[in-house]
Amino acid sequence: MTNEPKTWTTAELRQLYLKFFESKNHAIIPGAPVVTKEGSNTLFTTAGMQPLEPFLLGQSHPQGQRLANVQVCIRTTDIDSVGDDSHLTCFEMLGNWSLGDYFKDDSIAMSWEFLTSSDWLGLDPSRLAVTCYAGDDTVPQDTESAQAWLKLGVPAARIFFYGRDDNWWGPVGQTGPCGPDTEIFYWVGDGNPTGEPATNESWLEIWNNVFMQFDQRDDGTYEPLTQQNVDTGMGLERTVAVLNGYANIYEIDILAQIIQTLPAGVEDSRRIITDHIRTAVFMAAAGLAPSNLDRGYVMRRLIRRAIRHGRKLGINEPFINKVAAAVIESLAETYGEVKSQEAIILTILTAEEQKFGKTLERGLREFDKAALALSDNKKELDGAVAFKLYDTYGFPLEITQELADERGLIVDVNGFNEAFKSHQEKSRTATAGTFASGLADHSEQVIKYHTTTHLLHEALRRILGDTVQQKGSNITPERLRLDFAYGAKLTDEQKQEVEELVNEHITKSLPVTREEMSPDSAHKAGALGFFGEKYGDRVSVYTVGDFSKEICTGPHVANTSELGHFKIAKEESVAAGIRRIKAVLV
Ligand code: SER
Repeated sequence: MTNEPKTWTTAELRQLYLKFFESKNHAIIPGAPVVTKEGSNTLFTTAGMQPLEPFLLGQSHPQGQRLANVQVCIRTTDIDSVGDDSHLTCFEMLGNWSLGDYFKDDSIAMSWEFLTSSDWLGLDPSRLAVTCYAGDDTVPQDTESAQAWLKLGVPAARIFFYGRDDNWWGPVGQTGPCGPDTEIFYWVGDGNPTGEPATNESWLEIWNNVFMQFDQRDDGTYEPLTQQNVDTGMGLERTVAVLNGYANIYEIDILAQIIQTLPAGVEDSRRIITDHIRTAVFMAAAGLAPSNLDRGYVMRRLIRRAIRHGRKLGINEPFINKVAAAVIESLAETYGEVKSQEAIILTILTAEEQKFGKTLERGLREFDKAALALSDNKKELDGAVAFKLYDTYGFPLEITQELADERGLIVDVNGFNEAFKSHQEKSRTATAGTFASGLADHSEQVIKYHTTTHLLHEALRRILGDTVQQKGSNITPERLRLDFAYGAKLTDEQKQEVEELVNEHITKSLPVTREEMSPDSAHKAGALGFFGEKYGDRVSVYTVGDFSKEICTGPHVANTSELGHFKIAKEESVAAGIRRIKAVLV
């Protein structure tokens, strides 16, 4: 008899994980709802630690100091990566927790045992690598974690040290528990493992052990917590893919079941639909419905983007029902509350499809017309067109941006915001102050990011030098994205200085003023203006206190005190000599 290689199911890994930690005296607790309560730091539960925060800060947990659970997490910040082999906007996180009980040594030893012992997952240790916190002025290098790995037999050459970007976790909002982490990677590439996780994508992160020992304060300082905690998170979908030797996560049981309902064609689109509808199903099961406000607008955008990708696959009739039914089936055994709400979930999702279906074709035609009307050397679609697509045809801005991108075009986002703002003002007048749709909220957040982008641009120039030039900007209600010319990766210190400088000017409550002048006077006044833009006779110049001056169409907030706390979420390269920063206001 030949030995068929074993195929792992997600149900099996979930069970085995909980059983392992039960055997190590952990109490099994339920996960929290994916949609957070009003007033939370985030719109959705992004990590298992969020609901456990009070206990990490010292409150005693009724089930003891050792816990384990499965938490469904929603991370729309990863949306741009969905379509690749391993990123999802919604994933199940397997977690074990020590609330002031065991710390680094035991946590690392348990992870190693679970991953490599033949009684448990039996992964080949020679395909594993780990990363540890490199240290800075405030928190020293995490040598204890590195020692713990060495003791277990991980060779020094497979232990890498990185800074805050990679090996630091939390806080989820502006303040709260945080600390250094050690991450575990599995080699999914061909041949022998080589290179390191930061630069070689064949190293796939499967587990993160966070050592929560600090409380980050309002002023950015770290207060040691009264207890030392462990918060680990293992990606269920990724780990099952790794165990089965799959090339991508869509081959695992619960995702294959969904993607199979879609016709062959553009693979990215099949993956995006699978991911987005799965996330929307979890949202609907948590009581959310699509709307123009906050959480509901995130849900609307996921569904509409999935529908648009359906068209790319050549599906011209309603199809969400079928995909969503497959999602519900894939979750039925584990998430009974999803199955029991099947009828209502399908109604919510198909109603949104019907609504968007009515305008999608006409909107696509409108887009085509506008794109074709551009002269050969104009690569930018007017903001007014993007606004019409938004307002009349219900196209979230990123759908228009995606359509533009597919044709090598960009969208004039400033123009879109301008149109948005003037529409908002008109609506306000028309409804005599009773304007209450989500439009206003959405726009306010975008406007805040707009002003923050000016602050960031200036801060970068002051810290990195004035060769820094803005090369592009993209703003959504969730974040800003700024591309700028600069030849090197920013160090952790530089990022921290940039954050501090921006926050310093936010707290100074600086007025933001607008003046009109000729482009010439604007340059003489020291206003920044890039993109090789052509300006008309008169330009608007926005000045933020004594800090920044930039030519821009606006709109902007009136005072920097409206902005909140600025935080860099990611810094990366987009092309030779161009860096990209994504940042949020929290
Ligand atoms: N909070 C950490 C993470 O989300 C570990 O659970 O990666």
